[in-house]
Amino acid sequence: MDLAGRRVLITGASRGIGESIARSCAAAGASVALVARSEGQLSRLAGELHGTAHVADLGDAGSVDGLIARVESDAGPVDVLVNNAGVDHVGALGAMSAVELEQIYRVNLLSPVELCRQVLPRMLDRGRGHIVNISSLSGAAPFPGLASYSSTKAGLTHFTAGLRADLKGQPIGTTVVELGPIPTDMLSNASSYRPTAASFQRFYQLQILVDIQRETVADAVVEAISKDRRHVRLPRRAAVTAMLAEAPRRFVELALTGVPHQA
Ligand SMILES: NC(=O)c1ccc[n+]([C@@H]2O[C@H](COP(=O)([O-])OP(=O)(O)OC[C@H]3O[C@@H](n4cnc5c(N)ncnc54)[C@H](OP(=O)(O)O)[C@@H]3O)[C@@H](O)[C@H]2O)c1
Repeated sequence: MDLAGRRVLITGASRGIGESIARSCAAAGASVALVARSEGQLSRLAGELHGTAHVADLGDAGSVDGLIARVESDAGPVDVLVNNAGVDHVGALGAMSAVELEQIYRVNLLSPVELCRQVLPRMLDRGRGHIVNISSLSGAAPFPGLASYSSTKAGLTHFTAGLRADLKGQPIGTTVVELGPIPTDMLSNASSYRPTAASFQRFYQLQILVDIQRETVADAVVEAISKDRRHVRLPRRAAVTAMLAEAPRRFVELALTGVPHQA
């Protein structure tokens, strides 16, 4: 989809990768609708990019309920949904509280799926749309200290593949973005737990991982939307784990050639 004149809703747009995606989408001529909890940062960025700010806590089901309808009534139709907001609780599972555990699955997996559920009928009615889900290479590669986080990302990647199967033949594109280390607040937090930091260090030493700047990620996301690419994997040198995890999905896709995908 050509982004010029389209509206892109980006969650987690107050900072980090989401802020960069908002900047790149605006530079490509899109209107941006920004979602996060930090009202000040969100309003400043929305003002700068001539977009709209929508304060919402994606860890709260009540706040997510009807969110797409509220954004569309304030800003207009959403052509592209970028599910970028995420949290990571790094450390041993037993050190997490039950509340933290619920939050990580809600923000990283349940809310993105719920926002897709809300937006898809609207996109289908309009005959256009694109969904981008920001996942992680850790969804296919287990690192110590990230068991819950990685499983939310494995879920989001696999959900996006399932959604793509549901939407086969429909005018809605999907992109899953599987990322390695991107210097942001989240990466600093993940590196604060020694076993996780030491594991990342091993992969840096093996030259399998290398930091990628968030602006590079944002430009790749814009390109993927424009060219209807199903995957963005960065750094490319680490993409092999995600490609191996993708193999059974591709096998099923091939085996289902010619089988109707809609009721
Ligand atoms: N950085 C990495 O190395 C890396 C690697 C792989 C994947 N990723 C993924 O990339 C995405 C962006 O991460 P990042 O590195 O940019 O993280 P970040 O700098 O910590 O930013 C996270 C964003 O999510 C928002 N957010 C967090 N909790 C929220 C909630 N309950 N409701 C609404 N918004 C919420 C934050 O806004 P507020 O605090 O204002 O709400 C912020 O805008 C995440 O999905 C992450 O899992 C990151």
